[in-house]
Amino acid sequence: MITGKVAELLESTKYLQEVEVKGWVRSFRSNRFIALNDGSTINNMQCVVDYEKMNEALLKRITVGAAIKVTGTLTESLGSGQKVEIQVTNVEILGDADPEEVKYTILSPKRHTLEKLREQAHLRVRTNTFGAVMRLRSKLAFAVHSYFQQNNFHYVNTPIITGSDAEGAGEMFRVTSFDLDNIPRTEDGKVDFKEDFFGKETNLTVSGQLEGETYALGLGQIYTFGPTFRAENSNTSRHLAEFWMVEPEMAFCDLAGNMDIAEDFIKYVLKYILEHCKDDLAFLEERLANEDKAKPEAERSPMGLTDKLRFVIDNNFKRVSYTEAIDILKDSKPNKKKKFNYIIEEWGADLQSEHERYLVEKHFKCPVILFDYPANIKAFYMRLNEDGKTVRAMDILFPGIGEIVGGSQREERLDVLTKKMQALGIDEKELWWYLDTRRFGTCVHSGFGLGFERLVQFATGMGNIRDVIPFPRTPLNAEF
Ligand code: 4AD
Ligand code: MG
Repeated sequence: MITGKVAELLESTKYLQEVEVKGWVRSFRSNRFIALNDGSTINNMQCVVDYEKMNEALLKRITVGAAIKVTGTLTESLGSGQKVEIQVTNVEILGDADPEEVKYTILSPKRHTLEKLREQAHLRVRTNTFGAVMRLRSKLAFAVHSYFQQNNFHYVNTPIITGSDAEGAGEMFRVTSFDLDNIPRTEDGKVDFKEDFFGKETNLTVSGQLEGETYALGLGQIYTFGPTFRAENSNTSRHLAEFWMVEPEMAFCDLAGNMDIAEDFIKYVLKYILEHCKDDLAFLEERLANEDKAKPEAERSPMGLTDKLRFVIDNNFKRVSYTEAIDILKDSKPNKKKKFNYIIEEWGADLQSEHERYLVEKHFKCPVILFDYPANIKAFYMRLNEDGKTVRAMDILFPGIGEIVGGSQREERLDVLTKKMQALGIDEKELWWYLDTRRFGTCVHSGFGLGFERLVQFATGMGNIRDVIPFPRTPLNAEF
């Protein structure tokens, strides 16, 4: 008896052998054909039942959504659509699913909108789309580790609870063990954080970068891959309040080296899934094509999903300075015709996603790395350029996604860094440990952060970031 996963059995040629497989019923046609899925692959195992030999009460319990164990003979399939099938000798019901109740859920066999699926995020993984997306997400995560491990990076776990605001943007979720109805106060009425669990103000991390830097200046090359949290009230298809970020940090590496690694890394992980997720990608490609058909011509994607991935892998990302980008944008049609919501008037303007998408999708038509941004629209830790007004920042912009990576060469000079912090009102005492790295063996170093869900979005073609993470956290939504 071979006990196997559907994925393995579908590849097997051990015909006429006894097999056992467990999974969930996707459909049961004509009292004869069970489509069984166990999550190992997008493909179902066709299990053929001889209903005349089967107990009627048992047959009735083979319903959509039920968990069953099938035993039978693996045979070459005569029907189209699959190579092998199981001629069933026995079915055991492991967990019933009452059709009367199933019909009110997204398990019911009909088309459900992605919005509807989101409301039942605990069940949506049993659909083809979410099975494919989540398997692909898992493989991408493996590829992330694989890339860095192969290239001599060490995996570092930076803290999730921290006292610092790495991005200086103030978009943090507070962590406290205070009884909110009875908050200790100081004599002048302020919240007394000395009484709180950590004896100070703490929050969920927005980025592991600052701690990551300290480790790079010791381990040489590190990466983090963990959850990060942002209390920004952005209800868009690209923002989550809880998302996963990959943050490599490299000592003795400048901005050009940083861009090289980011580009190489993205190409590697996309290539990995092209090679290892063929069935899921084929499914997602078709899903996307069908979704596209419903859109007006102009909004349709010019390339299929796998072609899009291949295009990114095969072509150099276009490297463009912020200053060049501003010139292009100022001269662009949507700017002149005032079609942008934010008109680009002069150098120094912060780029909105409409501008980023114009550059990537309309102008360059390929991934773009923008670098050397104005200092005052970027974070405090970025290396100041000789011109005194730009910093060695880089953002990677992707078609359909916008910003997928944000990174920089770091300011390694203590005097320049502290001056910048003073100007921005960042407390040196809070970041004493960060500044220590600039005191003891400071060196040129760089790193970046890649939003993992945005990568999964790009790789799967899913339009909404809420559909590439199992349980999305967004403003007013923390169900499950
Ligand atoms: O550009 P960000 O804010 O950069 C940093 O946090 C740096 N400390 C990274 C570093 O240099 N180590 O964020 C990095 C990336 C963005 O490019 C984007 O892909 C993603 O994280 N990101 C989000 N993804 C989903 N939801 C959000 N709210 C996100 N905010 C940023
Ligand atoms: Mg950014």
